[in-house]
Amino acid sequence: MYTQALNVKDEPTAAGDPVLEARFQAHVDAELKIEPNDWMPEGYRKTLTRQISQHAHSEIVGMLPEGNWITRAPTLRRKAALLAKVQDEGGHGLYLYSAAETLGTSREQMFEQLLSGKAKYSSIFNYPTLTWADIGAIGWLVDGAAIMNQIPLCRCSYGPYARAMIRICKEESFHQRQGYEIMMTLARGTPEQKAMAQDALNRWWWPSVMMFGPSDTESQHSDQTMRWKIKRFSNDDLRQKFIDATVPQGHFIGLEFPDKDLKFNQETQHWDFGEIDWTEFKRVIAGDGPCNKQRMKQRRAAHDNGRWVREAALAYAEKRRNREAAAKIAAE
Ligand code: 3HC
Repeated sequence: MYTQALNVKDEPTAAGDPVLEARFQAHVDAELKIEPNDWMPEGYRKTLTRQISQHAHSEIVGMLPEGNWITRAPTLRRKAALLAKVQDEGGHGLYLYSAAETLGTSREQMFEQLLSGKAKYSSIFNYPTLTWADIGAIGWLVDGAAIMNQIPLCRCSYGPYARAMIRICKEESFHQRQGYEIMMTLARGTPEQKAMAQDALNRWWWPSVMMFGPSDTESQHSDQTMRWKIKRFSNDDLRQKFIDATVPQGHFIGLEFPDKDLKFNQETQHWDFGEIDWTEFKRVIAGDGPCNKQRMKQRRAAHDNGRWVREAALAYAEKRRNREAAAKIAAE
């Protein structure tokens, strides 16, 4: 666990206590942070644990589709940038697991939930990376969508999550730029390279639009999480912001979006867009996307193959603790 002091839960939990709940909500409404040892409704703890752990799992599973291209990056410079990006995603997962641990769930429990298929991770990582242009599309669109969703999380009411998000957003912003730069280079390259960039946009556009989750009328958690100031914007508002920011970027590099209904609306000053295929979204989050089985198989194999590293690190930590204890006794 993150720190032992945080393992101790308030006794009794006082769940449903109207006085404590009103005090908690007033604290949140005053834009003050909730910290790990503060009283919080059990629902707040559960919702945050669900969201932060899902977010952490997304970062970790998200390393797989990009990791697939490390050995095939077209130049040394691209390889170095991709390696650093994948490593950043691993780091994001670790900060987020630490933030979730402060709510009383251990990292081992969260891993177990991911590996047994109980926990969700982002739908987007169940799509395949077929060409190098997909690495550009992931950076531009997937990290672009992630930033749109995550910048407001820097103001989340839960202190450890909000603070973790600050560094994550800085790094995601670099990821988005390197992805857009890959797309720009391909779009301005040979006709074959441009076609590769267009094909990647065609395949990644709708899954990226879906990343923001179900529409506001279908979202189960939004109303409550917005009251608790975990979420600051609804799924549909963030989706619209993403589309408004991204469409001009695509047009600037001469690419077309795979949506015949995409039109700038002079009245609303937003881009109108076509119907989202929610059946596909539901199928992917239910485990039946193009790569769900492959991702979980790879993740389980990585966990099993890393067992000796975890065991060695624990054995070394224990050896060091014993050596320090013996030195202390000898000095007394
Ligand atoms: N993929 C998988 N599941 C999704 C989803 C998606 N794109 N969008 C929504 N869902 C799930 C929800 O988790 C929820 O299921 P649950 O009750 O079993 O947890 C259900 O669909 C209903 O959705 P809601 O709108 O009610 O859920 P939320 O209020 O939690 O909103 C969210 C969903 C916008 C994804 C929110 O959880 C969130 O903002 N999470 C933090 C950010 C995050 O997880 N990002 C992952 C993106 S990838 C990433 O960051 C990696 C980077 O390197 C690119």
